[in-house]
Amino acid sequence: MTNLHKILNKSERLVIGVLSGTSVDAVDIALIKFKGKGENVSLKVLEYKEYKIPAGIKEFVFKVSHKESGSVDDVCRLNFILGKFYAACINKFLKQKDISAKKVDAIGSHGQTIHHLPLTEKFNGIKYKSTLQIGDPSVIANQTGIITIGDFRTADVAHDGGGAPLVPYLDFVMFRSNKTDRILLNIGGISNLTCLPAKCKFSDVVAFDTGPGNMMIDYLSQKFYSKSFDKDCRISKKGTISKKLLSEIKKKDTFLLKKYPKSTGRELYHKSFVDSILKNYKSEPKENILRTFTEYTSYSVSGNIKRLLKLKNNKFELLVSGGGASNCLIMDGLKNNLPNATVTQVNSGGITTSNKEAVLFALLANETLNGNTTNLKSVTGAKKNAILGKICLV
Ligand SMILES: Nc1ncnc2c1ncn2[C@@H]1O[C@H](COP(=O)(O)OP(=O)(O)O)[C@@H](O)[C@H]1O
Ligand SMILES: [Mg+2]
Repeated sequence: MTNLHKILNKSERLVIGVLSGTSVDAVDIALIKFKGKGENVSLKVLEYKEYKIPAGIKEFVFKVSHKESGSVDDVCRLNFILGKFYAACINKFLKQKDISAKKVDAIGSHGQTIHHLPLTEKFNGIKYKSTLQIGDPSVIANQTGIITIGDFRTADVAHDGGGAPLVPYLDFVMFRSNKTDRILLNIGGISNLTCLPAKCKFSDVVAFDTGPGNMMIDYLSQKFYSKSFDKDCRISKKGTISKKLLSEIKKKDTFLLKKYPKSTGRELYHKSFVDSILKNYKSEPKENILRTFTEYTSYSVSGNIKRLLKLKNNKFELLVSGGGASNCLIMDGLKNNLPNATVTQVNSGGITTSNKEAVLFALLANETLNGNTTNLKSVTGAKKNAILGKICLV
């Protein structure tokens, strides 16, 4: 307990943020220095590094994530495998950056989402929603010697929220503007956006998952070309958009027209979704298929913005982060579909397209230690704002 007392009373903290996203490409680790709290927090990104996830672990995550192939003993195993893997990455990070673990006050760990069921279900008279992030925080705490806060989504889901998105807290604190309407877009495996009208308050923030990000593009690169992703659009640039295929994806995607709050995960856009669409496109050149699914990501993001957001001003800024910000065709598609937007990659105050989500989990951990709530109930649909996370002491 002495360690916890010590860090609770600090006005400045060094916190590590760690996660692996739905793309399961890498473990992202950031070290952040925080001063102050709540809306008045200031932060400095001191270090950031990504550690590639070995193919075997990635395949195991995909296997466990799908109900057809996952099993309860594998979930049990993977919870510890990932906990140990995250801890090993953090220890390596500290060694490479020459930072003593003793200097780090806390770790905020998102873990790996292996299942997300944000729609209300009923069992034995109990109504609930559910989500599961694994890579146990207690394993991380005990393997690094650093107090670890994990499992940030559960408290929101306990209050009947969707448990996602959590990034709007960071977006509001760091990116709101007095002058312009801003939309922050993160294109990971799944895409999500936060809309920040000029001069907005917490309660004005609108945010939701828009649908696919890189997930289906990555699946197709793997399926047709044995590549984990279409680096710099080398494949899709050779293809052309199939209008017929594009309209078929639009038709099949029931999430696109849903009203917010809404969140989704690997469940909806995984291989059976793509494979069922492709049944009738056996003779379509593979590069056209990849090009068309890439276009669909831009289309669905833009469609959500045009249909669901009511911005008062004609012009707005679209600040893009996540791996998809490095996909030039997704970025071009956004510019074409949204002529009123100034589309750029996030790069402000040390927060970049790559490190933003790791910064988020450090920020959420820091606010948990401050006793502040960080879910936005207007965004997740939760009945209450909640202090997120579980604290594992060492
Ligand atoms: N240079 C690039 N060209 C095309 N796509 C890229 C590039 N860099 C990253 N990506 C895409 O970004 C994905 C990783 O995005 P990331 O934000 O890490 O997602 P997640 O949060 O789901 O882990 C990769 O799988 C790939 O699809
Ligand atoms: Mg990633």
